[in-house]
Amino acid sequence: MIDLIKKLPKAELHLHIEGSLEPELMFKLAQKNSIEIPYNTVEDVKNAYDFSDLQSFLDIYYAGAKVLVTKQDFYDLTWEYILKCKQDNIIHTEIFFDPQTHTARGVAFETVILGIKEALDDAKKKFGISSSIIMCFLRHMSEDEAFKTLEESIPFKKYIIGVGLDSSEIGHPPSKFEEVFKAAKKEGFKIVAHAGEEADVSYIFEALDLLKVQRIDHGVQSIKSKELMQRLKEEQIPLTVCPNSNIELKVFKNYKEHNIKKLLDFGLLVTVNSDDPAYFKGYLNQNFINLYKNLDLSKDDIVNLVKNSFKASFISEELKEKYLQKVDLSLS
Ligand code: ADE
Ligand code: ZN
Repeated sequence: MIDLIKKLPKAELHLHIEGSLEPELMFKLAQKNSIEIPYNTVEDVKNAYDFSDLQSFLDIYYAGAKVLVTKQDFYDLTWEYILKCKQDNIIHTEIFFDPQTHTARGVAFETVILGIKEALDDAKKKFGISSSIIMCFLRHMSEDEAFKTLEESIPFKKYIIGVGLDSSEIGHPPSKFEEVFKAAKKEGFKIVAHAGEEADVSYIFEALDLLKVQRIDHGVQSIKSKELMQRLKEEQIPLTVCPNSNIELKVFKNYKEHNIKKLLDFGLLVTVNSDDPAYFKGYLNQNFINLYKNLDLSKDDIVNLVKNSFKASFISEELKEKYLQKVDLSLS
């Protein structure tokens, strides 16, 4: 089964590019850019990755992102992730970036987006990996600041397929960002949001009803509402679930308690994703392998999860067909 997991062509739909910053690159960039980081060795960094919840991770994640300064840094970060895609047989990826994490430190929006974009263009040229970019508003900041970011993004609109919402969830419900998401939708952006990662189902209802999301990022708390489960099933609204992340951030006590198999068996359009793989002990295949080892997933479950990743993506119907055929071919 592990061989099957490795050889299946996959899409990834929930990956924060800043969360793919490996400690080795963090050190290299810190030195090059003369940025102080609170670690002496790569080992030190790895030891610091012991989280109790989402916020304890975010504090470390934002501190790490400070080493990213030049366009080349964003290119190198993205290119390293693309090499992991190649390794894990990811043939399509939709990546998140957090513009405000960088613009708040004086790094221009243009520096960030162009560095990412150029690496993704090279990924297409060299490996045939297709991709798109989703910018996320940081929900711990104000809606006014999100509006400023939306304005800054307009000159680069052709490079950005959608907008999302991430960062500290509890206390920052989707309703706080209703107006800016309305404006983003008017601009033609696709809409996603992190909801129901740690917070209760009211956040998922708000993401659906107020932000009009096309996918829910995480959404594992949905299981607490029968009404919501029924709606997600009927409307086939995808959930981009991130198992390793949920375990590392203590959303579930351990892998055996993860509810992804229950969500899948209920008929939801569930996908598997790595979220912040450099922080959460592994990239996409490792997430699948951990699920398989702990949750008794069948071959059909794994193939369904992989097929869902293409079905839930923002690619054209034609490309979806082509990629789904590739999955079937890899099985024969
Ligand atoms: N930013 C990066 N990873 C995140 C996560 N899992 N939840 C919310 N914001 C994030
Ligand atoms: Zn996330």
